Formats: sequence, C-alpha cells, structure tokens
Amino acid sequence: MLEALQALQDEALDAVRASQDASALDAVQSAFVGKKGKLSGILRTVGSLPPEQRGPVGKAANLARRAVEAALDERRAALLAAADANLAETEWVDATLPAPASVVTAQRTGGTVHPVSALVRDMEDIFLAMGFETLDGPWVEDDYHNFGALNIPADHPARDMQDTYWLSDGNLLRTHTSPVQIRAMKRGAPPIRGVCLGRVFRHEELDATHENTFHQVEGIYVDRGVNVGNMLYVLRTLLREILDDDVEVRLRPSYFPFVEPGFEMDVTFRGAWMELLGCGMVHPYVLEQGGIDPNEFSGFAFGLGIDRLVMLRHGVEDVRHFMDGDLRFLRQFPGGLEG
Ligand code: PHE
Repeated sequence: MLEALQALQDEALDAVRASQDASALDAVQSAFVGKKGKLSGILRTVGSLPPEQRGPVGKAANLARRAVEAALDERRAALLAAADANLAETEWVDATLPAPASVVTAQRTGGTVHPVSALVRDMEDIFLAMGFETLDGPWVEDDYHNFGALNIPADHPARDMQDTYWLSDGNLLRTHTSPVQIRAMKRGAPPIRGVCLGRVFRHEELDATHENTFHQVEGIYVDRGVNVGNMLYVLRTLLREILDDDVEVRLRPSYFPFVEPGFEMDVTFRGAWMELLGCGMVHPYVLEQGGIDPNEFSGFAFGLGIDRLVMLRHGVEDVRHFMDGDLRFLRQFPGGLEG
C-alpha cells in the first residue's frame, strides 16, 4: 500500500513538471488531489484498513497529497512568472522605428501644424541661419531664475507687472523666457548665442488679446565687444524675414531690470507704430549671475511675444483660439505654413 502511494505521488509530481499551462495543471490537480482524484480515493479507504495500517497509510497519503499540492502551487507561480517575462520581452516598444505608413499618411492628410508652432519653426530656422542655437528651459521655474538672477529682487515693483502663478512649493510658472538667459550663461563660457522659443504663463484677465498661456522667443548673445548695433542687426533681420517686407523699426528707451540700456522696439503695422519687443544690453549684475565677468564680456538680450505675431500674420482676431484646441480653427492651417 505504501509503495503504491509512493508510485502515485511520483506519477503526480511528473505530471506537474510536464504541465505547460494552467489548464494542464488543473487537470493534474483533479486527477490526483481533486474530490475524485486517485490520492483522495486512497484517503477515503483508510478507514476500512486493518487498524495497524490506518496510521501509517493515512499519514503517508496525507503527506503525498500535500507534496502534490505544493508542487502544483510552485509550478503555477513559475508559469505565471515566465508569462510575465515573456510579455515584457514581446511588448516593448522601439520608439526609434519609423511610424507605420498608415500613421504617416494620416498625419499628412488629416493633421495640421498649429500656426504658433509654424511660426516657431520659421523663427528657429532664421536664428539657426544666424548662428544661434536653440535652448530650452523648464516651465516650472524657481524664484531665482525667473526674478532674482534677473535683477528683480523680492521687493521690486517690476514683479507686479507679471501676474504670477505661484505654486505651493514656492516655485512658479515662468512669466517670461528670460530665465533661460541665466541658464544659457551658466552652461558654458562665451561666445553664447542662444534662442529659446517656448510657453510662458501669466495670471491674466482673459480677453481677445490676453491669454494666461502664451509664447515668447528669448535671445541672448554674449561675447567680447557685443554692442547695440549688433542687436539691431539681428532684430532687423528677424523682423524682415518673418514680416516679409522691409518693415520700418524704431527703438525707444525703456526699462527692464535685467538690461541696461533697455529698449522697446516698434514696427510699422498698417501705417501705425506697434510695440513688438523688449531688448537691451544684458545688465552687468545679470552677467555676473550667469558666471560671466562684465568687465570682459558684454551681451544683448531680447524677448518678444510670438502669439501676437501669429495674429498679425493670419489676421486672427482672438488670441484665445490658439489654446482652446477647436478643430474648426486649427483646420484653417492645413499643412502649416511650410506645407
Ligand atoms: N522678458 C521681458 C518681458 O517678458 C522681455 C525682455 C526680454 C526685455 C529680454 C528685455 C530683454 O516682457
């Protein structure tokens, strides 16, 4: 009897090892340890055995059942783990593979380039051609980069001009792209020629010409002997390229804490002067914050809003169209400006 039990246990364990999936294991389970299984059958007969055999056979049968159940559990877990590993191997995505032709076609025929993105791309091309590199900076800035390093200390009234979204941790959504000036200077020694085109955020009262999320382009050029004439050349070139005709520009003295001297540049638009951008020579204090010796180097910086230029370019009457994602608006720009 004990030998028969041992043989049954061995048979069951072999069957467990040979099982390749959950349903095979279920079959083994019911064949041996299920209600009508072979081991269960033996356990039921124990009561009818001669008294001196009951103890040893009952014990052996119980041990055999437990051994088979333990083997079943173990094999189930192993099969599950193998399935997971297999999934991880077959389901990974190679992001460098070219998109399937169907996706590319859908983009060409159905998608449009957002008019703000289109102007951003055009401007990037213009700046790249002038030897600038494109820079990036975080949307969530710290006080130091957005204000302090730009010569706008905590009690400075210039802060009030930028209605700021403060975050509970003391950081903020950048109110302008100027913090990228600091980041550009800290990255390496002059010559520095960089532009950052990106999103900025202000707590504005929304109307046709005010959005809380808009776009600026920031430029910075630092080297030995950089002067206002260099700045004028770069800005004129930019405006001539994007406004397409020989625009007239004028420079007015203005005040931004991070430039000295500071200016605003206007362009003629439909016969009137229109204020377009802020610019000036990078303030010595700001150069120092960027780790640059103002006695050795000088630089200019400028910042202009992109959204208003896009409005001019396409005759868009309300700036809020840009962020609200209405397809009826977006579909008016098939293929973008390059398409
Ligand atoms: N950061 C300024 C603004 O948002 C613009 C500016 C940039 C002015 C660089 C001067 C130099 O209004």
